[in-house]
Amino acid sequence: MSADAQKRRAAAAALDHVSNGMTLGIGSGSTAKHLVDLLGEKVRAGLTVRGIPTSEETRRLATEAGIELVEPDEMTRIDLVIDGADEVDPDLNLIKGGGGAHLREKIIAAAGARMIVIADKSKKVAQLGKFPLPVEIERFSWPLTVQAIRKALAANGLKSASLKLRPGSREAGGGVYLTDSNNYIVDIQCTRIDDAAALDASLRAIPGVIETGLFIGIASLAIFGTDRGVETLGE
Ligand code: A5P
Repeated sequence: MSADAQKRRAAAAALDHVSNGMTLGIGSGSTAKHLVDLLGEKVRAGLTVRGIPTSEETRRLATEAGIELVEPDEMTRIDLVIDGADEVDPDLNLIKGGGGAHLREKIIAAAGARMIVIADKSKKVAQLGKFPLPVEIERFSWPLTVQAIRKALAANGLKSASLKLRPGSREAGGGVYLTDSNNYIVDIQCTRIDDAAALDASLRAIPGVIETGLFIGIASLAIFGTDRGVETLGE
């Protein structure tokens, strides 16, 4: 079974946790796309939920699917957040942001009463760090921020990590990748992250760093799609 089919299985299983009247944080990426699609089907069949999209792409998909959306400047309780991940460790710490949406994703996930991660089985790892860690940074004087990030990496035992400013896609005209909030992203190839909480704190303390893709202690359940069905971690 393809990874994409596993993603759809995980998304379908997460919908068992959704009930009438909920306000949902809706993640971004290819797994969240399945979620939007399947949620749209349920809404058309009579489910009443409201969604808060974590990216402009998810906003577009959710609108097309007929899901009622809450405006981002509206104060509301978020009952449940469902989102994908690039890596999930045994303690449910995550690397996110492969699709560049981790800033908005983290704002919504941190505010949510509960976060469920949906992913194909390949995202389950023993230790975070193989996937390059995305860090969203301010464009102003970005080389100074990158220099400070290098220092923070060295202080966290990650001197040999390599950094790359994320390039823009060909469709977007190349150049440097811009997030929905018009910032840059630096992808850090760490190989292994021994203390994710400490690294997250050091990076976030740097002026110019807006948000890291490390989600520590936020998710409480992960649902992995497998060839045979789904596997869960947590709760
Ligand atoms: C978006 O920026 C990310 O945080 C995604 O949630 C993550 O990259 C997982 O994406 P896929 O569902 O496409 O694997």
